[in-house]
Amino acid sequence: MQMLDGKLASAAVKKQLQEKVLAHISQGKRAPHLAAILVGSNGASETYVASKVKNCEEIGFESTLIRLDEKVTEVELLAHIEQLNNNEGIDGILVQLPLPKHIKEQAVIEAIHPSKDVDGFHPINAGKLMQGMDCFIPATPYGVVLLLQHYGIETKGKHAVVLGRSNIVGRPMSILLSNASATGNCTVTLCHRNTENLASITQQADILVAAIGIPEFVTADMVKPDAVIIDVGITRVVDTTKKSGFAIKGDVKFNEVAPKASFITPVPGGVGLMTIAGLLTNTLKAYEQNSVTVG
Ligand code: GUN
Repeated sequence: MQMLDGKLASAAVKKQLQEKVLAHISQGKRAPHLAAILVGSNGASETYVASKVKNCEEIGFESTLIRLDEKVTEVELLAHIEQLNNNEGIDGILVQLPLPKHIKEQAVIEAIHPSKDVDGFHPINAGKLMQGMDCFIPATPYGVVLLLQHYGIETKGKHAVVLGRSNIVGRPMSILLSNASATGNCTVTLCHRNTENLASITQQADILVAAIGIPEFVTADMVKPDAVIIDVGITRVVDTTKKSGFAIKGDVKFNEVAPKASFITPVPGGVGLMTIAGLLTNTLKAYEQNSVTVG
């Protein structure tokens, strides 16, 4: 078994991005600029956004974090997005999800201009992805692709099984793995809560991507020997032995599945770090596409 180390792979991606930023700046251009909006104070969202901002700084991007109160209205949030859409100094915009219940997530996603939609959640980008067109790919499935690329894992002709059909991970992941591309060409099965005989399907997976948010759901008996296991889960579970009071658990029962796998991602230290690499790659892409106006 070999570990798919998100720390190593994301560091390699970030180094390349940093070099590209330096090249742009040496030509007299400004740095790429990501704006993140965080509504309320959900602990996990706080951590993710802080990490996104920190990673921007590490590779020479500018970042702006806009914190809004839990009670902000949808109209006020949309007005912030509109300002960022119209600000030529901002290349990428992300609104951290989930949002409070009184705000319609879909309205927020559709308010972000597709050319600044570095999360790739806008229907224009989702539609382009489905048609194999150039677009912003959602950061987590993009990160998984970058990880597979980094480790030279062959996908062509393999049976990939994706657990979970969310718009953020499972569905775009299934499309990427099936597309005619260097990290695609898989035969893909997308499983969800209504899938019958789930284990009989996961047992056929050469590549298994678990993105359901149920800690340690995938057990050794569900896995084909020598499968590639990608664990997208990052759930906080109470752990009084930890200073923080919680531990991070993936969707895969790592200790029993790892010995059976050819490659496996750890949690933490796997896909989470690659999500940030995907986001930063998208932000540089937005900046470069916007570069006619980048002074
Ligand atoms: N919440 C969980 N994952 C993501 C993500 O990739 N982007 C945003 N904006 N929110 C999320």
